[in-house]
Amino acid sequence: MDFSKAADRSHTNSIKWDSTAIENISANPEAEPFWVADMDFPTDSYIAEAGRKVAETGIYGYPSFPLLTAKASEWLEKKHGWKVPAEEITFAMGLLHGIASCMDLFTEKGDTILVPTPAYRPFREITANQERVMIDHELGYDHDRASFYLDKERFRKDAEKARCILFCSPHNPSGIVFSEEELRFILETAKELGILVISDEIHSDLVHPGKKHIPMNKVNESIGADCITLFAPSKTFNIAGEHSSFIVFSSKEKREKFRAREHAMRLDEPSIVIGELASSAYEHGLEYNKELCAYLGENVKRIDDFLKTSGSGMKMVNAEASFVAFLDCMDVYDKVKAEAEAHPEKYTGGNGGGILSRFFGVNASVAVNDGTWFGDQWGRFVRFNYGTSQDKVLAALKRMAEALKAL
Ligand SMILES: Cc1ncc(COP(=O)(O)O)c(C=O)c1O
Repeated sequence: MDFSKAADRSHTNSIKWDSTAIENISANPEAEPFWVADMDFPTDSYIAEAGRKVAETGIYGYPSFPLLTAKASEWLEKKHGWKVPAEEITFAMGLLHGIASCMDLFTEKGDTILVPTPAYRPFREITANQERVMIDHELGYDHDRASFYLDKERFRKDAEKARCILFCSPHNPSGIVFSEEELRFILETAKELGILVISDEIHSDLVHPGKKHIPMNKVNESIGADCITLFAPSKTFNIAGEHSSFIVFSSKEKREKFRAREHAMRLDEPSIVIGELASSAYEHGLEYNKELCAYLGENVKRIDDFLKTSGSGMKMVNAEASFVAFLDCMDVYDKVKAEAEAHPEKYTGGNGGGILSRFFGVNASVAVNDGTWFGDQWGRFVRFNYGTSQDKVLAALKRMAEALKAL
């Protein structure tokens, strides 16, 4: 796979490439997209072929995928060394759907949900929509090392107030790949306090060389906390537009309750396209996945090298997984804010995003997620999506660095 050739997605109904959506967050409809978390790489050729085969028949009738969870089970074993019988894996129509259903079924209105922040915004939205109360657990941050970390003492104190932990592992957007010892700590804490852990592992297949993801419920086999692990082929193979995910419950009772509800809501069967793509991904995708992880790891090194010598004041936060990373703009934020206040007429497009995302949109023609999307207190960061060719990534960062240096 040649990842240096990212696709031009400008006419493909992609939200990431939609000029109105781009203007909304960046004040510039022409800004190049480095925001929404999907990549500009075509999926694996086997997966594309599976989709093509469906299209060629011209028939999209009701499908049957009796082996889908067996393929998910094989994937867990070959990718993560975790043996889970197919009959213990449950399909769901997307990862957020899985989280929302679990929260709805297994917690009550008014319950407290611990969410480590900066947090992928839908975690906050799902919690609020269901009238649960979010405990905003700030991850530790070391500005000198540009690195987030789990602060166990504070985590324990916040967990004592919680009914449920909504975790993200590896963590979006901090880039943390948690160690086995950290996962054990979380599970042991949850078990002792009698609280549920919901672990979103959508980014788990994209850990860069040198680091290893360990599924929460694999660690939990020797602990026995109440834990739900969710994973998906969507980010891994860039097929997120076809929503699918898989769930492993530590509690058989919860698994059966979830399945019964999904069935009652007629939400338990994959569509023909999802089924074909997900089956093919888990059967054939390992080689593509290895090459992609190596390419993304290389992107991170190149970004880091560039930023260390650019003199821009931006730093790349230690990114160990996936294709999105926080850029630390703490040292330049005050100048950017002063510029926005001095020239409001330059930043009139759209009304979303924040000070930094609108600055980079207008002055560097780069659309990034503003840190405030991950929580109000994270406005001195932006999230940059490096899931595209190295040339494009470096050209965008160069424009961002020049815009900052011109202040
Ligand atoms: C942590 C995390 N969870 C869930 C999702 C979305 O999953 P889905 O589209 O399957 O609902 C994303 C997408 O960016 C994500 O980053």
